[in-house]
Amino acid sequence: MIYPVTEESLRLAAAAIRAGELAAFPTETVYGLGGDAFNPRALAKIFQVKGRPRFDPLIVHIARLESLEDVADLSALGPQAREHAARLAAEFWPGPLTLVLPKRASVPDLATSGLATVAVRFPSHPAARELIRLSTGAVAAPSANRFGCLSPTRAEHVAEQLGDRLGIILDGGPAAVGVESTVLDMTAARPRILRPGGLSRARLEALLGPLPGPGETPGELCSPGELRSPGLLPGHYAPRTPLCLHGRREMAALPYREDEAYLFFSRSSRESWGMPGAVEVLSDAGDSVEAAANLFDALHRLDRLGLRRIHAEAAPPELLGEAINDRLGRAAAGVLKPALP
Ligand code: TXA
Ligand code: MG
Repeated sequence: MIYPVTEESLRLAAAAIRAGELAAFPTETVYGLGGDAFNPRALAKIFQVKGRPRFDPLIVHIARLESLEDVADLSALGPQAREHAARLAAEFWPGPLTLVLPKRASVPDLATSGLATVAVRFPSHPAARELIRLSTGAVAAPSANRFGCLSPTRAEHVAEQLGDRLGIILDGGPAAVGVESTVLDMTAARPRILRPGGLSRARLEALLGPLPGPGETPGELCSPGELRSPGLLPGHYAPRTPLCLHGRREMAALPYREDEAYLFFSRSSRESWGMPGAVEVLSDAGDSVEAAANLFDALHRLDRLGLRRIHAEAAPPELLGEAINDRLGRAAAGVLKPALP
């Protein structure tokens, strides 16, 4: 059931989490499916409700800086990594950044899939912060979607995918950032981006210097009539409708088909194509921050049309373009899922 965020619904959700149950809640990135990070039974429920394999670890969400040491052991980092982690937390928390750090024994192995590290995030959404504070101070939460499917940026998206398995969905309106947090591994010799996300590489590099990690723009992952194998990309963040990812020029040259849908990055790209049809534009001005905020909502809308294919235009790789292209690239890999015709 969907509850608007109020003091009362926050208390209800916090009580559920303290009792080892789950509650979906808004964050500034995407909606999360939360359970007590210290309770193995609650963690097992998260995997079960999502249909997520247990080898994929969860992010532990905290709501005050002091809670970090309850779940992560910063003293196990080298001096430079420790200093970097402290500076990153001071600069970017609360916000869309997840740090992978050495784990404390208090965090059950189920949360981290047996890894010696734990992923920690301090979200900025006021409802998320209040829920975490009112429950156990550390809430494990993956995105509140079924495993492999489109991420939820609205309470209705959660209800569509998990409504039959979940008692409480807190509705805090549409997510402002719209893509998941950037995951940064602090335990490697140098910090490394594991997942591009809502905090851009440029902002991290301003503080840390150049970072290794995925940064390339994906090329065309499939062309009309012929699917090119994306090889190693797992089918994740995927709509049910097969998705093809194109560069701007390929997109402008696509023939129009009334049984296909088209997702443009900017108004100017859409105009250079000029056809009618099932079309969404992520940002009129071509701004990657605005585009990220609209990405999953637009994909949910196009997916609901039940058309034969979604053609999506890759974003310019700057700022949140890297995260947008990461999600679209993985969604395109979903084309190869065996369940699809
Ligand atoms: O924005 C977000 O991060 C959202 C909201 C709800 O906070 N959460 C989210 O969680 O995206 P999830 O479970 O969908 O994605 C977590 C990512 C996965 O790619 C997982 O493999 C990675 O974080 N991860 C978690 N723990 C890790 C660890 N110890 N080492 C490396 N990667 C880890
Ligand atoms: Mg997810």
